[in-house]
Amino acid sequence: MKFRAVRPTQLGSVDAIVVPLFAATPPPTWLSRATRAAIARLQKTEHETTRLYAINTLHGEPRVVLVGGGKPTDVDAERARNIASAGIRALWRSSLRKVAFGLSAGTISDERAAQAVVEGVLYGMWRPEVYRTREDEHRLPQIESVTLVTDRPVGDAIARGTAIGDATNNARRMANEPANRMTPRLVADAARALAKEAGVKIEVLDRERCRALGMESYLSVAQGSHEPPQFIVMRHKGRGGNGYDLGLVGKGITFDSGGISIKPADNMHHMKADMTGAASVIAAVAAIAKLGIKANVIAVAPCTENLPGGGATKPGDVFKAMSGRTVEVINTDAEGRLVLVDGITYAQREGAKRVVDVATLTGSIAVALGNHFSGLFGKPGSFVDAIRATATEAGDRVWPMPLTDEYRDEIKGEVADIRNSAGRLGGAITAAAFLDSAVEDGTEWAHLDIAGTFWFERDRPQAPKGPQGPIVRTLVALAERYAKD
Ligand code: BES
Ligand code: MN
Ligand code: ZN
Repeated sequence: MKFRAVRPTQLGSVDAIVVPLFAATPPPTWLSRATRAAIARLQKTEHETTRLYAINTLHGEPRVVLVGGGKPTDVDAERARNIASAGIRALWRSSLRKVAFGLSAGTISDERAAQAVVEGVLYGMWRPEVYRTREDEHRLPQIESVTLVTDRPVGDAIARGTAIGDATNNARRMANEPANRMTPRLVADAARALAKEAGVKIEVLDRERCRALGMESYLSVAQGSHEPPQFIVMRHKGRGGNGYDLGLVGKGITFDSGGISIKPADNMHHMKADMTGAASVIAAVAAIAKLGIKANVIAVAPCTENLPGGGATKPGDVFKAMSGRTVEVINTDAEGRLVLVDGITYAQREGAKRVVDVATLTGSIAVALGNHFSGLFGKPGSFVDAIRATATEAGDRVWPMPLTDEYRDEIKGEVADIRNSAGRLGGAITAAAFLDSAVEDGTEWAHLDIAGTFWFERDRPQAPKGPQGPIVRTLVALAERYAKD
């Protein structure tokens, strides 16, 4: 896919034009007089042309796809991106090759709007049916070039949009793979391939190395499976020198059966994507390196299956985490926090002063926030605010959740320091409190629970069903935020 940006007068011939239409706003003046007249005629009889993500098509040459943009004052990065996705998805079944795109107006800059179009086009070009054998059931559209029409220069919007769009699709591709084709070893292979392409250093710690480092909590999850655990570490030294400006930690459960506390069968197959956090940090650090961002970033992805084999952890078992805390495993299905605490400790021991973890951690966060916002936890408050602002600007929807000492008290163990489950009430928050046990004094930490946002059950105009790839763009934006200028 080739992207370029041109002034309206330089737009040559294209097969299709995608333009957002906003409420009470005339269409852009760079469209031909004939096209604007056709839009005006359409709007006399069609009442919902500006309804968010509504699609209307003028079948001329070029074809004109009109995407409803809602109120212009409501346009942020997330919406601008989705408008572009909806536009490209409307061309899915066509054989058109050259497409021009109008930018979304609204509250964001032209540069940001251009990046949103690039990201949105790349997201919209992705489908989950990769194992369908009939060619027509997994064919991708034929679009070859996308031209952004803009009056002002858009800086490096195309490079950034491409890196972030590709990274998000990489994370989705990995999450979409079935667990038999994305075992911990295959996640490590995928990470090595991305690391090589991006020039990132990678190291994969095996069970023995992890044991020597004291990661009993992480390894306790791996002991019920025949697949060996793989603790993936990737390093980008964008500014050189010591330490890391940012540590990214991703939950890497390649299949979560629940272990001995086994899950009910309904929808258990979605647990092939319980490594979405790992895929996100792996894809993000590769994009950060590709963009040459001048920050030191370490990405840590503790990967393992969670299965109820003969060696599996039994409820009540006690282990010592790398932090030194003893952990009582009340419920073997609360495994994400067990792998993450050792990932968080490792990142800090390697010199990360800020740590952000991403995890499909709790069903409770989906009960609280539904499918539309990821839960945001952390400390201190100033860091949580920074993450929230960066996420919103990057086009992710996150919402802050409380984390106070009352919740920390709830995870006190009966026989050990902490227990890994404290029941249903406030389940997403007590999970975050467990992670907090690994956060050392002086570390700024944020936790993003994506268990409501990582997957969507049905196609929508703005996004295909299946893995959604949240937060990757936020991680790249955070590296930029903490880069040395
Ligand atoms: N991977 C699940 C959480 C999850 C559920 C992610 C649905 C995506 C969709 C996690 O390991 C889990 O099982 N959490 C339990 C914790 C409980 C046993 C304390 C949960 O949320 O029910
Ligand atoms: Mn689980
Ligand atoms: Zn899980």
